[in-house]
Amino acid sequence: MTQAKADIGVYGLGTMGSALALNLAEQGFRVAVTNRETAWIGDFVKEAGPLATALIPAETLESFVSAIKTPRTILFMIPSGAPMDAMIEAVLPLLAEGDTIIDGGNADFNDTRRRFKELSGTGAHFVGMGVSGGAKGARHGPSMMVGGTQHSWDQLRPMAEAIAAKFEDDPCVAHLGPDGAGHFVKTVHNGIEYADMQMIAEVYGLLRDGAGWDAPRIGALFEGWQEGPLSSYLIEVSAAALLTVDPETGQPMVDVIVDQAGQKGTGRWTVIEALKMGESANTIEAAVGARGWSSEKSKREIAEPLLTAGTLEAAIPSETDLEAALIAARIIAHAQGFRLLGAASEEFDWSLDMVRISEIWRAGCIIRSALLDDLATAFRDEVPHGHVILSPNIAETLAQKLPSLRRVVVAGASLGTALPALSAALAWYDSTRRGRGTTNLIQAQRDFFGAHGFARTDQDGKFNAVWPDLASEGT
Ligand code: 6PG
Repeated sequence: MTQAKADIGVYGLGTMGSALALNLAEQGFRVAVTNRETAWIGDFVKEAGPLATALIPAETLESFVSAIKTPRTILFMIPSGAPMDAMIEAVLPLLAEGDTIIDGGNADFNDTRRRFKELSGTGAHFVGMGVSGGAKGARHGPSMMVGGTQHSWDQLRPMAEAIAAKFEDDPCVAHLGPDGAGHFVKTVHNGIEYADMQMIAEVYGLLRDGAGWDAPRIGALFEGWQEGPLSSYLIEVSAAALLTVDPETGQPMVDVIVDQAGQKGTGRWTVIEALKMGESANTIEAAVGARGWSSEKSKREIAEPLLTAGTLEAAIPSETDLEAALIAARIIAHAQGFRLLGAASEEFDWSLDMVRISEIWRAGCIIRSALLDDLATAFRDEVPHGHVILSPNIAETLAQKLPSLRRVVVAGASLGTALPALSAALAWYDSTRRGRGTTNLIQAQRDFFGAHGFARTDQDGKFNAVWPDLASEGT
């Protein structure tokens, strides 16, 4: 008897690939599986237990591809960059008209756009799919952001919807647009993730260094916040991490962890793309920068006894203020992310659906939170000028929480506890809400030294002023 063909193939049995393959198998799909190091395949199938009957292990690329029913859906869960290009080159000659290759890694959306273009005309389709939720999410319900053709989406959709996280029965997966749309949305998701993690860490820092609280006390506070409007996966994780004890020393786990944060690139890409599009995502930039500073630990240690703090007396903000400040700053970080999505949607003609994006971020992904449901509601109503902080309910929440954010930023500045992301959020808000800013002086400076010209408030056109000669410039 010939074996039934697979509904999908998963190439790459690392943490994410194996979790997705088992999730698909559990949802009743037949899954062809393979891996570059073939030794892993047998172990993976053995560990799959009863789900092994749904798996078709293959040791060669040829047998893997021919085990999948046509039109084929092949999910690659491999390191982004050159390995993906190499695999496309290897698999393309084996594919038939209508087959779809999916890159489920954290790829640079510029690469995804290029690959999509390179494959168009070959008969095969290319999908860039952002997968969020870490290993547990991939195994039991991730959030997925799909870019590519409608043809590929029609193929993938039943499987993607079956394995996705559900928010009140709504699967957290959507086809968001062509080419790089899915990977761009995932990149911005990660940018927001960076900002949110950083802002939570800043509140931790204020309580640890300013107020002298120990980790369990801060963890307990965060645990309480999880019951309120800050409810989110990242607060839950932070609370649980702060309450975890190191079995070797009996100390709080966080106290034995070195304060140097790694990064794989998605936060940085978000900032780069923001700057390219002339948008400010300063909370995300602050978060990326903070990880950069963190890696310069030896320099910070040298500087500590040498640089005066010049601190001022200040009271530690109340728990209510800290909670409210985080709520306001979280809204602002998300608003920055959504502005970026709006700008990219226009630039690349993607027609991104902000309602759907906020909806599929409500469960499964790392930034899932109560706020995302509020943002989905806000986007469902007309968002004034596409700017979510102008939505009445969101603007009202911000209005209530802003004084707390100000008190927290003032306390951090006075006590010498760096709050780069929280301060950035406040500066962004204050810049956004001011009809007349201060770049009139920037324009004057530019015209002064470079005759760059400026617009006037009272006349149309471009003008230059006659500026005085400066002694320092000679005459
Ligand atoms: C997710 C995560 C996941 C991962 C990122 C961030 O959505 O599941 O964002 O993709 O945690 O790669 O990694 P870095 O912090 O190492 O950049």
